[in-house]
Amino acid sequence: MLGNFTYCNPTKLYFGKDALNGLNEELPKYGKNVLLVYGGGSIKKNGIYDKVVAILKANGKNIYEDGGVMPNPTSEKLKDGVARAKAANADLILAVGGGSVCDYAKAVSVSVNCNDDAWEKYFIRFDDVACDIVPVGCVLTMVGTGSEMNGGSVITNHAQKLKVGHVFGENVFPKFSILNPEFTFTLPKYQMVSGIYDIMSHILEQYFSGNDDNTSDYLMEGLLRSLIHSADIAVNDPTDYEARSNIMWIATWALNTLVAKGKTTDWMVHMLGQSVGAHTDATHGMTLAAVSLPYYRYIMPYGVVKFARYAVNVWGVNADGKSATAVAEEGLTAMEAWMKKIGLVMNLTDLGATQDMLDGMVKSTFVKDGGYKVLNENEIRQILKASF
Ligand code: NZQ
Ligand code: ZN
Repeated sequence: MLGNFTYCNPTKLYFGKDALNGLNEELPKYGKNVLLVYGGGSIKKNGIYDKVVAILKANGKNIYEDGGVMPNPTSEKLKDGVARAKAANADLILAVGGGSVCDYAKAVSVSVNCNDDAWEKYFIRFDDVACDIVPVGCVLTMVGTGSEMNGGSVITNHAQKLKVGHVFGENVFPKFSILNPEFTFTLPKYQMVSGIYDIMSHILEQYFSGNDDNTSDYLMEGLLRSLIHSADIAVNDPTDYEARSNIMWIATWALNTLVAKGKTTDWMVHMLGQSVGAHTDATHGMTLAAVSLPYYRYIMPYGVVKFARYAVNVWGVNADGKSATAVAEEGLTAMEAWMKKIGLVMNLTDLGATQDMLDGMVKSTFVKDGGYKVLNENEIRQILKASF
């Protein structure tokens, strides 16, 4: 049964080859000072920076730059960004990049007008936002996180060995997001497949929870089938517009809050992956790929009905005359083969993790209770160990 919920997603999307023109519609809504946030320089190499700056100038904006946002943005960089946004008296924060840049922009947006330490306030205490928020807009260049249409913001504190996500409310969602699939063509294959698996993981985190008859599960099976199909094409031809545009759209739907409405969700793969990220700074989607199968194989007996359904409806496993467990196992085997085929990293060792990090990773893993099995510390250790 669908549980009760309210639903609102306020982000306006501009999608397609001409999507950047949407900036001309959006920019007049905001004051003159724009903080232009971006990463380590890919947008300068592929020309997106020049295009965005030209539109900002044509709209009479004062541009204040905040570049150098790293993958897995840090609490230190967040402090720097807050100081820059204050100095710029920013009316709009324009994030041009992937999930890291969008997440960071949101964290800055809720921290500019509050005097607390942003890390402590939002990522340790999980306080609500009680100050004025600077609006954020996104020009997405890397597909996976769904940050373009949600309130998520994930920040890493290396000193404390913590990678923590705060899911902010609708008032923090980007006001608009520009989604041009062609902007993702220059992504290195490693990043592309990492993003593809991040999308798959977001869907599975919401799918592998509960056994109600829920429309969201049907939606997710469709999204997964389309993702697998388009990923196979994109891996062979990264400039296939149809495949890249489908992947971009699936990523947005996977985590724009819709499919979670009225149902319970898990998120343990992300808790394990974020812990790995806190200790290794590895690429987000790859951390998820490395822990997923040990986790799913461990919890499968507790949710075998859903795992068997997943095998049949997503991976096309023939269930005739087989036990639910056998069908579920076949589904996970098919998933594993596909993950290897598209080039995902399948173990923690290849992500730079070492056995001496194990205790720390166990400690840094937050436990969620919406999945088929609430893990204790020993089980977390066992799953992480099996992921090496
Ligand atoms: O920094 P630059 O030079 O731009 O290079 C980036 C970066 O090295 C590169 N890149 C991006 N667009 C490119 C490109 N290179 C060539 N051409 C392009 N068009 O890709 C690298 C990775 O970028 P990043 O933004 O870090 O990737 P992603 O989008 O996967 O974001 C990862 C962050 O998002 C968080 C993750 O934990 C991680 O910190 N997440 C955010 C979520 C949310 N807001 O809801 C949910 C996710 O589960 C996730 O946790
Ligand atoms: Zn993710």
